[in-house]
Amino acid sequence: MCGIIGYVGTQQATPILMEGLSVLEYRGYDSAGICVQNGRLTTIRAEGKLVELEKKVKRFESQGTCGIAHTRWATHGVPQERNAHPHRDCTGGIAIVHNGIIENYQELRLELVASGHLFASDTDSEVLAHLIEDRVKQGIPLLQAVEQTLERVRGTYGLVVISKDVPQTLIVARMGSPLVIGVGEGEYYIASDPSALITYTKDVVYLDDGEIAAVTSEGVQLSGGVSMLAQDRLLKIDWDVEETSKGGHPHFMLKEILEQPQVIADSLRGRVDLIEGRSILGGLEGIRDRLAQIDRIIIVGCGSAYYAGLVGEYLIEEIAGIPVEVELASEFRYRKPLISKRTAVLAISQSGETADTLEAIYEAKRKQAITLGLVNVVGSSIARETDAGVYNHAGPEVGVASTKAFVSQLTVLTLIAVYFAQLREEEINGHAILAGLAELPAQVQEILDGRQEILKATAIMRNADHCLYLGRKFQAPIAYEGALKMKEVSYIHAEGYTSGEMKHGPIALISKAFPSVVLCPNDSMFEKTWSNIEELKARGGAIIAITTDRARVEDSVDACIVIPQTLEVLQPILSVIPLQLLAYEMALAKNLDPDKPRNLAKSVTVE
Ligand code: AGP
Repeated sequence: MCGIIGYVGTQQATPILMEGLSVLEYRGYDSAGICVQNGRLTTIRAEGKLVELEKKVKRFESQGTCGIAHTRWATHGVPQERNAHPHRDCTGGIAIVHNGIIENYQELRLELVASGHLFASDTDSEVLAHLIEDRVKQGIPLLQAVEQTLERVRGTYGLVVISKDVPQTLIVARMGSPLVIGVGEGEYYIASDPSALITYTKDVVYLDDGEIAAVTSEGVQLSGGVSMLAQDRLLKIDWDVEETSKGGHPHFMLKEILEQPQVIADSLRGRVDLIEGRSILGGLEGIRDRLAQIDRIIIVGCGSAYYAGLVGEYLIEEIAGIPVEVELASEFRYRKPLISKRTAVLAISQSGETADTLEAIYEAKRKQAITLGLVNVVGSSIARETDAGVYNHAGPEVGVASTKAFVSQLTVLTLIAVYFAQLREEEINGHAILAGLAELPAQVQEILDGRQEILKATAIMRNADHCLYLGRKFQAPIAYEGALKMKEVSYIHAEGYTSGEMKHGPIALISKAFPSVVLCPNDSMFEKTWSNIEELKARGGAIIAITTDRARVEDSVDACIVIPQTLEVLQPILSVIPLQLLAYEMALAKNLDPDKPRNLAKSVTVE
């Protein structure tokens, strides 16, 4: 959830560190700091957004070609300068930046205070600096001092350590929170997210859980003395730096909504055989024989990824005829699930680093399930921990509210459903489904071109404190997802519900001041959903309809947003677009920053 950046090489570190923080700020932003080595350690920190640190950095000298930096999303200790990273030991000669949670920090802190250490913060992270200090004082080399320190620690960490006494060296360690090393010419970049180093290099190596390494201008040596730059560790980032900038748009969220026609095309590229009506998923081919034997799929995810999984349940059951359950990853991992070797557990995750989803995969592996990943970030933890998987190829998603990744997940889940149908030789109309997928980019573009219609819906929602999103079958998960978007970026209490549940309670809430967004494309559920619209109207509820049939709906509702008609199994990909735009417009109407919603971070790498 926090952003980490480190540099060791021949250039001045401060400009590189500050540029990296500006890219990472979306991951977490309540305080920030840098530490640069130049015979001594110069540490500069500031509360608030990155601009506050930039002001201080301009005022203070911070020469040096080796340094670390951090932008924080508080887990322990209020967002104040004293709790900002980097944290130091008692002497100020050792500094650390940390992403994760040290679960046993209280006992460690008590032990350290009892032995005379003075703490400057309320954070869990600071204990690491003092533990390392103790071992360095005993003459233990820095790398081994970090190694021995981490043996005392329970929890998760992406950790970078710098010492005034060990020039041009950064010690890095990873357990549960990602760290990636960018490989330059005689210089190395460390980051919690590749987007922070792609300006400098696309050649990267990812630290695995449990690995500790020394990064110097000469290379990257693991604690066992093995180089991490072996060919089989090197990965090439497959997107460009401009994809992590706003590209002239006011917000990343709008940029990423507008990219969706291209994202769908990229998610389909090389994976659709329109002649044979088959989907081609090379990432699954290595285990196709095992997949052909599965009798059940469990989909796990969090937030939007979980809602994508709910669409996936309908898709896979309807197209491939395999029983599917969808579980919140944060529940699945504590549920002691009944899993056999013929169960496939599919983790959906844009970041590939969500702690709950990663732990769900570990649980599935302990139970010998086949584990699959549907992930956007190449080389991320979930991508590397699963037996096989499919990348989204949606490009970096920077906006905290997931949009293009969600639509890409639905696109790829459709391909996965067709793929499983092929494995099981199910009779399906693969040609129709794949042809429908191929039409989606143009249909999404049509919705985006007509997005002015959203403004009428925004006017209806403008003063609402509460609202309902309603849908049935394939549209029910879209109701949940649309409500999540609205919550996340406009802070309105939006609740997603299946339309059929209205009469079992929620209808008691309906009034003129309590609008409802109803997903009612002309599909197998239309007539049923229409009766829900009538129920809402009878109670004076304002209604915003997302439909494919203007003639049947327009005169009965307060705002009618029309989307193109496609197959029922593909319609969710189109019906979610207006809901993304509605949430975005509501954030602007309320003068909120849709890219940096309060209390949220892009990647939830803590439990
Ligand atoms: C979605 O808009 C939210 N940002 C959040 O629910 C997100 O989907 C969830 O944290 C899962 O993230 P992941 O896809 O990176 O695992």
